[in-house]
Amino acid sequence: MPMPPVKVPPVKVPPVKVPPVLKDRYGAELGATDEQAVALFDEAVHELVALAGDPVAKAGAAAAVDGELGLAFSLQAYLHCYLTSRTAYADARAVLDQAPKPACGRDEAHQQAASAWAAGDLEAAARHLERALLMAPRDLLALKVAQDLYFFLGDRVNLRDVVARVLPTWPRGTPGAGFVEAMYAFGLEECGDYRAAERHGRAALDADRRDVWAAHAVIHVLEMEGRQSEGTAFAKASAPDWGPSFFAPHNWWHYALYHLELCREPEAVAVYDGPLTALGLASPLYQVDAASLLWRLSLQGTPLARRAEELAGIIEATLGGSTYCFNDWHAVMALGLAGHLSTAADLVADLPGRATGTNKTMLDRAGLDVIRGFLAFAGGEYKLAAELLGQARPHAYVFGGSHAQRDAIDLTLLAAASAAHDENLVRALLAERLARKPTAEAAAHRVIEVSGARA
Ligand SMILES: [Fe+2]
Repeated sequence: MPMPPVKVPPVKVPPVKVPPVLKDRYGAELGATDEQAVALFDEAVHELVALAGDPVAKAGAAAAVDGELGLAFSLQAYLHCYLTSRTAYADARAVLDQAPKPACGRDEAHQQAASAWAAGDLEAAARHLERALLMAPRDLLALKVAQDLYFFLGDRVNLRDVVARVLPTWPRGTPGAGFVEAMYAFGLEECGDYRAAERHGRAALDADRRDVWAAHAVIHVLEMEGRQSEGTAFAKASAPDWGPSFFAPHNWWHYALYHLELCREPEAVAVYDGPLTALGLASPLYQVDAASLLWRLSLQGTPLARRAEELAGIIEATLGGSTYCFNDWHAVMALGLAGHLSTAADLVADLPGRATGTNKTMLDRAGLDVIRGFLAFAGGEYKLAAELLGQARPHAYVFGGSHAQRDAIDLTLLAAASAAHDENLVRALLAERLARKPTAEAAAHRVIEVSGARA
C-alpha cells in the first residue's frame, strides 16, 4: 500500500541581507542603501586623492549614515593603515570587524585589501586592489591606495604602471582625470622618465592648480634634474595653492632641499621653523620630513640641537610602535641628532624581533643595515657606517620612499667616507653624484668638508 505523502512544512530560510548595488561619482559599483552616504563617501575619496580636507571624518560619516556601505569601512581601515603603527593596524581591524557583507566584487576586493594591509601584508593588499581595478578601472580609491602601497613597497614600475593600466578610461578634461594624470606623473618621475613626468604633472596642474600631488611630481622632476633655482621659483609660485592640503609640509620639505643644494642653509632652517612644522609633528609623515631635513642640515654643518631634541621627544612617545622600518630609520636620525644614542640603539636592537609581514622583509633585505649605518654615523663610527651603507644602498629601494628621500643614504655614505678619511671612496662617490647631478657639486663639497673635520 503506497504511503500517503508526508506533508513537510516549508522551512523558513531568512534571506541573506545584501545591500543594493549603487554607483559612485565615477561610475564604479558599490554596495549601499543611501545616496547621501554615497555622496559622503565620494567626498572622502576626493579628499584622500586631493590630500586636503578631512577624509577620516567624511568616511566615518558615510559609514554612520549607511551601515551597508562597505567601502566606507574599507576606506576608514586604509586611513588607519596609512599611519603605519601597530595601534593603527588594530584600529583598522576593529573597523573591518563592523563592516557589512560585500555586495559586489569591488566591495569584496577592497575588504580583502584592507584586511591584508591591516595584517601587515602590503603586497597582498596591492594584489587585491589590482583585482578591483580589473573589475572597475575607474575605481579611484583602488588606484590611489594601490599607488601608495607601491610607494611603500619601493615598486617604482608598478607605481607608474598601475596608473598606465587604467589611463585610457580617464580621458583628459573629464572629472577626476587630472588626479589620475598627477599620479601617472609621479610614477613616471620615479622611473626616471623626467620629460614625460613633467609634461603630465603640468597638465594635471592645468586641470586643477590646487592638485598638490601634481605639484609634487613636478617638484620631484626639478629636484632629480638638479634644477634647483627653477624649483624654488616653481614651489613659491605654486605654494599659495597648497593652503588647504595636509600634504603641503612635504612639498615645503622639497623646497628646503633646493636651498640645501644651493648651500643656502639658513633658508632651509627657515622652512623647518615655518611651513614644514606648521601642522605640528604628530603625524609620522611630518616626523619623517622633519628628521630628514635636520639630518641633512647637520651633514652640511648646521646642527640644530634644540629642534632635534624636541623632535626626538615627540618620536620617543610612540617609539617601538611603528610597523614601517622607513619610519624607524628616520626615528634613528632624530634620536642620533639629539644625542639619544642608547635609546636609538635599543630601538635598533628590538627591530628584528618586532617586525612582521612586509616590514620584516624590508628590514631583512636592506632596512636594518641602513638603520644601523645611520646609528653608527651618529655614534661617530664612520668606517662602520660607510661599510653598512655601502652594502645596503643598492637594495634600499625595498623599504620604499622616493629617490629624493633615499638620497639621505648617499649623502650620509659620502659624509661617512669623508669622516673616515677614505679618499678613494669619497672620490668615487663624488664622481657618481656629479655625473647624475652636476649642480649638486657645491653642497656635496660642503658635506665632504664638514665631515672631514668631524673625525
Ligand atoms: Fe616627495
